[in-house]
Amino acid sequence: MATTAPTIVSSHHLATLKYAIRDLAVLAADVQKQGHKVLYLNVGDPLKFDFATPPHLIEAVIKAMRDGQNGYAASEGYAPAIDAVRREAERKAIPGVHNIFITQGVGETVDICLTALLNPGDNLLTPKPDYPLYSAVLTKLGIPVNAYDLDEENGWQPDLADIERKITPQTRGIVLINPNNPTGAIYSRQTLQAIAELARKHNLVVFADEIYDKLLLDENADDAKMIAFGSVAPDVPCITFGGMSKNYLVPGWRLGWGIASGNQQAMAGYIESIHRILRARLSANLPMQHAIPAALDGPQDHLIEVNRKLRQRRDLTAAWCNSTPRVSLVAPKAAFYAFAKLQIPEEAHEDDQAFVKALLYEKHVLVVHGSGFGQRAGTNHFRIVFLPQEEVLTQAYANMSLFLAARYQ
Ligand SMILES: Cc1ncc(COP(=O)(O)O)c(C=O)c1O
Repeated sequence: MATTAPTIVSSHHLATLKYAIRDLAVLAADVQKQGHKVLYLNVGDPLKFDFATPPHLIEAVIKAMRDGQNGYAASEGYAPAIDAVRREAERKAIPGVHNIFITQGVGETVDICLTALLNPGDNLLTPKPDYPLYSAVLTKLGIPVNAYDLDEENGWQPDLADIERKITPQTRGIVLINPNNPTGAIYSRQTLQAIAELARKHNLVVFADEIYDKLLLDENADDAKMIAFGSVAPDVPCITFGGMSKNYLVPGWRLGWGIASGNQQAMAGYIESIHRILRARLSANLPMQHAIPAALDGPQDHLIEVNRKLRQRRDLTAAWCNSTPRVSLVAPKAAFYAFAKLQIPEEAHEDDQAFVKALLYEKHVLVVHGSGFGQRAGTNHFRIVFLPQEEVLTQAYANMSLFLAARYQ
């Protein structure tokens, strides 16, 4: 007689785990299967478009493999890669760096740094809208999300009053994504100084995710310069996150790092916990780490072309948003994301997610709804990735204009 096997119960923590960007890709595959060409404005991988890895990085990795560099690396990272990141921290004007470690992408840096810090009952301030990896890791750890607003009225700078309101005795740290995904904002010196003040007062660790720090679209404007958090607050316990995926066009190589600065004595136990996890997971890819010195210390020429293309595509995107009824945009100053606001008429009785799905099914354009980034209810936004070539963007925006006009009059 057949017996029913007992159900395999999964972690309760994961019941609410969502990753809107990739979840939507499943629906897009469905639309594609129906024979339609989908215009993808959803995924932040430059290699899916007309951007190419600088050849000298590929050479560095091939050489490492040919030279037999195919074993495990040291758990904290390959020493010349760590040295290159230390020089990069100097260029970012971060003083007092006391620890550096290399990871499998910033995704792993986030996972390790949050896991090593948080205990049950603690909370961590994360931005709203956020890059969903942060809430995913917190969900995995069983830590509630304590989200602070980014203020659209103030160029998407963090809302300092909201941060202060949300700090509790259990708050252990704050995540700053600068330049920001999904808004493309760059934080001002005043914002960074004010956050440093709050971190000092409440004994917070600052996680400065600066993975987009070289994709600067208006570098000559005073309000669009990149300032590293660690450079304005050398005393504040801080881990700066950086990586190769975006600036150096190798997201598939999975290379990231953490740079610890600020009060070394206060951070010693925490840094040791980070290293315990680093050792337990053995190491990041060794041959790929050979590209880190080549990238950080080598020619940066590719960035001129990358930023030129991004600037043109940003301008095209902003022009469409600003000339389209019901759409508005705080123009991004960095990275390749635009977080546009959408005014959906009340009579339509639909939210941003319904808009995104209908747009995909009817006009085959894929963007991601603002609530997928935890943006607060009652507002409607969508994130555009403006990496595709101008022809694709122009076609996508024409489709969206038709869709909006027909659906919302
Ligand atoms: C703000 C931010 N942090 C981290 C990551 C993850 O980067 P990595 O490819 O290095 O894991 C991303 C990727 O899109 C990101 O946007």
